[in-house]
Amino acid sequence: MKLSAMFKILTNFGISNKVEYINQAFSRNIGLLTIEEQQKISDVRVAIPGMGGVGGVHLITLARTGICKFNIADFDHFEAANINRQYGARVQNLGKPKLDVMKEDAFSINPFIEFSMFSEGINESNIDKFLEDVDVVVDGLDFFKFDIRRLLFKKAAEKGIYVITAGPMGFSSALLVFSPNGMGFDEYFNIKEGMTDEDKYLSFAIGLAPKPTHIKYMDLKKVDLQSKAGPSLNSACQICAGFAATEVLKIVLKRGKLRPVPSYLQYDPYLSKLCKGYLIMGNKNPIQAVKMKIIKIILKKNKSVYKTQRPVKPNVNFKAGDMISKSVLEYLITAGIQAPSGDNAQPWKFEILTNQIDLYLVHDKDLSFFNVNQIASQISCGAVVENIVIAASSLGIGSTIEDVFSKNGNLVISVKFSCKGIEKDNLSDYIWKRHTNRKLYERRSILSATLSKVLASTKTIQGAKLHVVTDKNDLKKIANIIYQIDQIRNEHRPLHEHLMSMIRFTDEEALEYRDGLPLKNLEAGLIGELFLKMTKQWTVMNIINKIGIGKMVARHSYQGITHSSGVALLTIDGSEVQDMINGGRALERVWLTLASLGLAMQPMTAITLFYQRVALNRERDFQLKHQKILNKIEKNYKELFHLVGKEPNRNQIMLFRFGHSDKIHCRTLRQDHTTLIREDIKK
Ligand SMILES: Cc1cc2nc3c(=O)[nH]c(=O)nc-3n(C[C@H](O)[C@H](O)[C@H](O)COP(=O)(O)O)c2cc1C
Repeated sequence: MKLSAMFKILTNFGISNKVEYINQAFSRNIGLLTIEEQQKISDVRVAIPGMGGVGGVHLITLARTGICKFNIADFDHFEAANINRQYGARVQNLGKPKLDVMKEDAFSINPFIEFSMFSEGINESNIDKFLEDVDVVVDGLDFFKFDIRRLLFKKAAEKGIYVITAGPMGFSSALLVFSPNGMGFDEYFNIKEGMTDEDKYLSFAIGLAPKPTHIKYMDLKKVDLQSKAGPSLNSACQICAGFAATEVLKIVLKRGKLRPVPSYLQYDPYLSKLCKGYLIMGNKNPIQAVKMKIIKIILKKNKSVYKTQRPVKPNVNFKAGDMISKSVLEYLITAGIQAPSGDNAQPWKFEILTNQIDLYLVHDKDLSFFNVNQIASQISCGAVVENIVIAASSLGIGSTIEDVFSKNGNLVISVKFSCKGIEKDNLSDYIWKRHTNRKLYERRSILSATLSKVLASTKTIQGAKLHVVTDKNDLKKIANIIYQIDQIRNEHRPLHEHLMSMIRFTDEEALEYRDGLPLKNLEAGLIGELFLKMTKQWTVMNIINKIGIGKMVARHSYQGITHSSGVALLTIDGSEVQDMINGGRALERVWLTLASLGLAMQPMTAITLFYQRVALNRERDFQLKHQKILNKIEKNYKELFHLVGKEPNRNQIMLFRFGHSDKIHCRTLRQDHTTLIREDIKK
């Protein structure tokens, strides 16, 4: 509404000037403020840099208190992500300058307000003008605007102006008052030249809230100092405004007791906690230094480099005769390679053709003892294909797997795409969420309705069958079998050496190779991680096996089974390469289904791949004592999964455990899809 229209309304209410308006509009303040004080604050000028989460609500709260002069600054426009907390962020204001919106909002409270507007925000060149005639500064700057905040506080102190900063921290608000005659910004926060941005933000945070109550309930994983974002609630911004407006009154009316820094005040309604204190030496206080170290450790732990890079889903309008764009095919490949592979070896490459993706199995990527006759890699390639088919369906694209053939010794699978109307496969979202979980799960049974969904998950893949064991006694029997298999694994030098070569012991290593198993992904705990580091060399592991400590590792696998809701064996009818690919497709469907049901899963493939080797008459690849163990447990194992008799051609694809679990600490990485697209293939 235009100002003239507002004044017209006021005239209808018998108000024709500022004094009359103040008398009426703020009459209910009287009793807490005197009439003289109310008049006095109408002449006070408050500067508020920033019209966002706290700045906007500061302006409105102070306008309703009766402050009539403001210097306000902001260069930003409202966007949807501001709606949760910023006063002026409303649908009709999206895209509009924050400054204009807030000025209009304030006018609707008091059309007699005088504004000095700084639409370029505050900066070195306008800071003096911004502070001209100002009585108090109320800090409304974004948490991460550090350098300009520092300058603002310094300039204000030089000009004899108080600065109030009230920051939302979780559900709480933390208030600091800076007196021009007291401790300065740099002194209180212990800011030194050459500090990194991250250290500056942390110093600001721990100085602002010396009792960080919010850490108890805030998901610190959502605090990203690098991308300058963190959680922030409107309710906390409102408390900030209440805190700050009270301090403004105390300062300008010289009433009540002011407690400038190093005093602090925090209120956390979530925990019903009021914290006030005197932080001797500010952040130079040794306790603050310890806090800084602890928070840094927590943030470093949470700063996961192991995030799944989920690309934006492309918009596709694919009609008969159209060519699918390269970017869409690349999206499908990216979805494909989220598939699991033995030790995350990622044994695949791709070629992009017209409306077609060819997947090549790359032998050299996994030459481990486990990967007998490349069966594990064939299974993984099957899983990639299934992901591609599912992701294509989510774009309305139909797929057919046209060829599985060997060319120049390479296994090639062609996925051809067509525009036939296809229903979206509901598993598509879980392509990006599925992962291996090696934690100990909760000993909880699974609902029969959930189990039915798991059992039905492979029905589209011909010849696939899932045999599930959930009976507690049977699970113990399987645990015993796995215990013995795990001992073979621990005592097998090539297997041990291969596993160690695939563990990425540092973040740097993990990021360089983008394959293998990041140490934290193994969920071994601190002692387990130490054990893995110590046993890197076979000579150490060999000694550990000889003195019997290796059994502890097998014991962990035993517990893995007894803590699960169930164990399942996925089999396929047939033993050709095509069957293994289908087995991999079925595996991916089961795994995605488990993920969609919120269930964790871990493959336990040593046993299935050992018996694959035996089935290929390569029993002698094992030491004699291990051959004996395999012979001894085979009957029990096959009986537990009804593998004996009827279907001699049924082949094992994967044994896995599943159940309810906490989240894992870190995911595995994938190589950049662009490095996986083959260019050396001439058609
Ligand atoms: C054929 C195959 C065999 C696997 N065997 C095991 C296994 O014995 N133990 C295990 O913990 N994980 C096993 N995995 C899981 C892989 O290590 C895992 O898929 C890979 O590291 C990628 O991680 P992600 O599943 O979390 O995406 C296997 C995966 C495949 C495809």
